Amino acid sequence: MSARQAGDRTIDQDRLFPATAMPDSTWWHALWPDPDGVVAALGIAPGMTVIDLGCGDGYFTAAIARRLGTGRVVGVDLDSAMLAQAKAACAGMENCAWLLGDAMELSRLIAEPADYALIANTFHGVPDKTALAREAGVTLKAGGHFAIVNWHPIPRETTTVLGEPRGPRTELRLSPEETRAVVEPAGFKLEALVELPPYHYGAVFARAQ
Ligand SMILES: C[S@@+](CC[C@H](N)C(=O)[O-])C[C@H]1O[C@@H](n2cnc3c(N)ncnc32)[C@H](O)[C@@H]1O
Repeated sequence: MSARQAGDRTIDQDRLFPATAMPDSTWWHALWPDPDGVVAALGIAPGMTVIDLGCGDGYFTAAIARRLGTGRVVGVDLDSAMLAQAKAACAGMENCAWLLGDAMELSRLIAEPADYALIANTFHGVPDKTALAREAGVTLKAGGHFAIVNWHPIPRETTTVLGEPRGPRTELRLSPEETRAVVEPAGFKLEALVELPPYHYGAVFARAQ
């Protein structure tokens, strides 16, 4: 293990998924002008307990917290600097909790079963995708949901934001069918495919009872 500690920052480089650095907020916010609408479209509902895996700077975590009301969101990230930014993004909201750790060890990190686990803009870099889905499944209530937000598998040069190609390399991008093929063996069934224009989709899976 090669944990790097610089000032207050802790990050275990060996466990960081490749090609998953948090994008610059200028183009990220231009690409996602309505994070609250995305969260609603994915079926996250008031009162749920939600895990936001690889929450990054908390842009979507804050939208989830706004939607949940009396529910609760747990933001998980391997990078303590990201968690610090996420906490700041959710300042003033009482329904957020934070976990510093590896998504591949989720079942050991989460104490109470959740209704919903989301991994946004990160799954493409996960080396063992079925193992991650299995970890998510263990943390969910029976009938709980696991949602993956992915870039569509279209050439990177065509996914421009603010005049530049953005997102992971073309060969890392997964189609909905490829996502389904690696997630369903972990005990899920695809329940909904949600278009998230211009370049993304959300695949929402239900955990088998
Ligand atoms: C591309 S960012 C996406 C952030 C957020 N989900 C979004 O869509 O705005 C990916 C995040 O996953 C985190 N990450 C990478 N590998 C991880 C791991 N093994 N366990 C937990 N978090 C990880 C990174 O630190 C980064 O903050």
